[in-house]
Amino acid sequence: MDYIINGGRSLNGEISVYGAKNCVLPLLAASVLTDEEVVLHNCPKITDVDNMVRLLQYMGKQIVWQDDTICVCGSLTNTAAPQHLAKLLRGSNLIMGSVLAKYGQINLPLPGGCAIGKRPMDIHLDGMASMGVQIDFADDVLLCRGKPFATTYVLRFPSVGATENLLCAAALAEYETVLCNCATEPEVEALERFLVKMGARIEGIGTPNIKVNGVNKLHGAEFDVIPDRIVTATYISAAVASGGEITVTKCNPSHLRAFLNMLNPRLEITEYQNAIKVKRSRMPVSYGKVITAPYPFFPTDMQSLVLSLAAIADGGDTQICENLFENRLTHIADELALMGADIKVDGNTAYVVGRKLYGADVAAYDLRGGAALVIAGLNAQGITTVKNVENICRGYLNLSDSLRSLGADIVFK
Ligand code: EPZ
Repeated sequence: MDYIINGGRSLNGEISVYGAKNCVLPLLAASVLTDEEVVLHNCPKITDVDNMVRLLQYMGKQIVWQDDTICVCGSLTNTAAPQHLAKLLRGSNLIMGSVLAKYGQINLPLPGGCAIGKRPMDIHLDGMASMGVQIDFADDVLLCRGKPFATTYVLRFPSVGATENLLCAAALAEYETVLCNCATEPEVEALERFLVKMGARIEGIGTPNIKVNGVNKLHGAEFDVIPDRIVTATYISAAVASGGEITVTKCNPSHLRAFLNMLNPRLEITEYQNAIKVKRSRMPVSYGKVITAPYPFFPTDMQSLVLSLAAIADGGDTQICENLFENRLTHIADELALMGADIKVDGNTAYVVGRKLYGADVAAYDLRGGAALVIAGLNAQGITTVKNVENICRGYLNLSDSLRSLGADIVFK
């Protein structure tokens, strides 16, 4: 399937943001920690969430999805995750901690996910081993045995997924687990708050140093998934690329501070409690030097967006340094070059000179890179066809409909 975009139309109006993919996935994984009912509101019906639901259903959880609410209950009947589902998304690896904590064993196929880099799991596995879990590996499947016990563990890097797995592993581990150098992304903090609502005893919520006093049992809980900060940044980028004035609602401006700071004062941005209004009167000349790093610094998931914005800027130089995923720059840079972009990639840094781009046939290699190509197409002269749109649908709900509602000339074919 493709997106066909006729660039040059300015976008105006209001668009609301839905729940964050990277928040729903760990919450669904954490629902394994209890047999009681867990109710998650504001869940987007996107491919990755669908596949995570299918994975948990296959393993025995009873799951009902009504509108944007997902209800999960029951216990697992099987602790071997199916390969055909686990390999569909990176987030499948997030069930490791909760399944081990509740059932003491899991056969977990290596996860799938975007072609943005090697994405090892050494921190996940080292952390689990420090909690006493025996881990073997056969035919691309992790064979994990043993209920995690309390420990003190320092993550060598604040990995989002490893933090989430270790939090779930510790929630039912008797005595106190201390986790140092944890990720502090809003989605990780949301998981910590969700686990507390389930009865977990957690100190240091939202900070890099977390203490978890394990409990015997966790109960059901109800939770509102936080707004998707990457989708918020995507809509803001659409306003910048196309001109006009857009108000993004049901978002949390405090979750994308680094991105907004990068745009200020190049654009007129007004923040409200749960909304951001952006008006582009003049196309920015450049975006200076952008360096990706763990939260609260500039997020790697917004790197492709700023690469597109830099490529269509008004003649100035932008430098973008990607420090998390070794393959995140190359694919999107190559595709933007097909549209005439002036981008030179040297190692993990892209050197961009803004210029007018022209419509071309390009391909979405990964979720965020695909969305960034759509953003470039909104500004490019002529028709841009973005292929492999299924990669974009993994994380974006009806992106073309949303942009068309703001005045974009985009169709999904
Ligand atoms: C999560 O992936 C997100 N995915 C990613 O979003 C996001 O880019 C990433 O965090 C960073 O913010 C979900 O939450 C489902 P990491 P995750 O572990 O947990 C290295 C999207 O587009 N690392 O924080 O896999 C790793 O190679 C996706 O929505 C190890 O070396 O990311 C990377 O360089 C893309 N060993 C860095 O850490 C490990 O055991 C950050 O990875 C784990 C990670």
